[in-house]
Amino acid sequence: MTRVGTEIEMTVDDVAHGGWCVGRHHEQVVFVRHALPGERLRVRVTEQTTRFLRGEAIEVLDSSPDRVEAPCPYAGPGMCGGCDWQHASLDAQRRIKGKVVADQLSRIAGIDLDVDVEELPGTPDGLGWRTRVRFSVDEEGHAGLRRHRSHEIEPIDRCLIAHPGVSELGVTDVRWEDVKDVEAVASATRADRAIVVTPTTAKLAALPELKASSAVLRRFKGGRVQSVRGRKGVREDVAGREYRVGAGGFWQVHPAAAETLSGAVLDALEPKPGETALDLYCGAGLFTGALADAVGPQGRVMGVENGATAVRDAQYNLKDLPQVRIERADVAKQMREWADVRADVVALDPPRAGAGKEVVRKVAGMKPRRIAYVSCDPATLARDLAEFDRAGYRLAGLRAFDAFPMTHHVEFLAMLEPVRLARRHREEQD
Ligand SMILES: C[S@@+](CC[C@H](N)C(=O)[O-])C[C@H]1O[C@@H](n2cnc3c(N)ncnc32)[C@H](O)[C@@H]1O
Repeated sequence: MTRVGTEIEMTVDDVAHGGWCVGRHHEQVVFVRHALPGERLRVRVTEQTTRFLRGEAIEVLDSSPDRVEAPCPYAGPGMCGGCDWQHASLDAQRRIKGKVVADQLSRIAGIDLDVDVEELPGTPDGLGWRTRVRFSVDEEGHAGLRRHRSHEIEPIDRCLIAHPGVSELGVTDVRWEDVKDVEAVASATRADRAIVVTPTTAKLAALPELKASSAVLRRFKGGRVQSVRGRKGVREDVAGREYRVGAGGFWQVHPAAAETLSGAVLDALEPKPGETALDLYCGAGLFTGALADAVGPQGRVMGVENGATAVRDAQYNLKDLPQVRIERADVAKQMREWADVRADVVALDPPRAGAGKEVVRKVAGMKPRRIAYVSCDPATLARDLAEFDRAGYRLAGLRAFDAFPMTHHVEFLAMLEPVRLARRHREEQD
């Protein structure tokens, strides 16, 4: 039996979701980090289950031509868990991610497709893009990043994938007392900077006034860091519109992602003046704003979001657009209430867990001519695409964006149409 801590020699020949390569050692499946397909490696076993082992490559015996030296000194066995593919060229990273996604679509949804992962503009070396970084604070008050599959914290002086605006906040230079974690936020388009601090439970109990927001937000504007409370946050500009994004609210972390994705949603849906559009899981209203401009004042756009801060942000961001209505609700519950509503086009961008069967069925029941499904999780996307297929909607096009270089994450946009139209669309593309 191969125990945790044992070192083994093996070859990996495939990739799996999550930054792993896969191989076998004496017929046992082993998932290996810091490896590349085709490599022969010395692997230290880090986890053992009844079905497989996990491990990390501690020595490369026979190297892949795709291997490069990791730019970050904290990316390696036993260290920071934030990045997965620093040791692969960016081309190879995108090929690997495309293969992982194609495998999941085939296995879970029976969809066979070559997936080309597109580079986003502005970060040709794959570094300096992450506009939001959550640092964990250790017992001595040092901010660092968590090790892979661990609660242990890797102390760091700098994160190379962090946006320069995040680095300039100097979170790792400060001793944080009674603090659990610190989120550093940089606007990609303005000088706004924010630090969102989550106090330890003991500190929170001792400071009743903090309970309401559970965070102190400090806003950095024009070279100054100022403390503010509650939901104020950074501002972002996308396609000529200003969006306020409050503390803890969702915003795409790559500087080019918000503009690229909202453009891609419009390209996929082709909304027309006067149409009715839905933006489900609308956050601060990014796609709602783009859809509202496209359908115009004769059309209407209904956004649904359950986060109180995000709802207030979306209402504030889009207050000049009479065709927009933002509902604060759980999407599934709202869709039940809208049983009689018809929509021409629907955008949905659920969290990692996906939309699920009920929401998929309700969206299909609205009989939209097109659906744009934005996702960052290939497994739940594939599961929901299979459900859409059963509900009469088929994948007509898929785009994948390298919105998280150096990590295993990918952002997707799936365009769906009623089965007959989708088949024609796919045939035209082939
Ligand atoms: C991936 S974000 C998308 C936000 C927006 N489309 C954007 O690009 O900025 C998902 C959003 O869904 C919201 N959300 C999560 N579960 C929800 C639910 N069951 N009902 C409504 N909104 C939900 C989250 O608060 C978050 O704002």
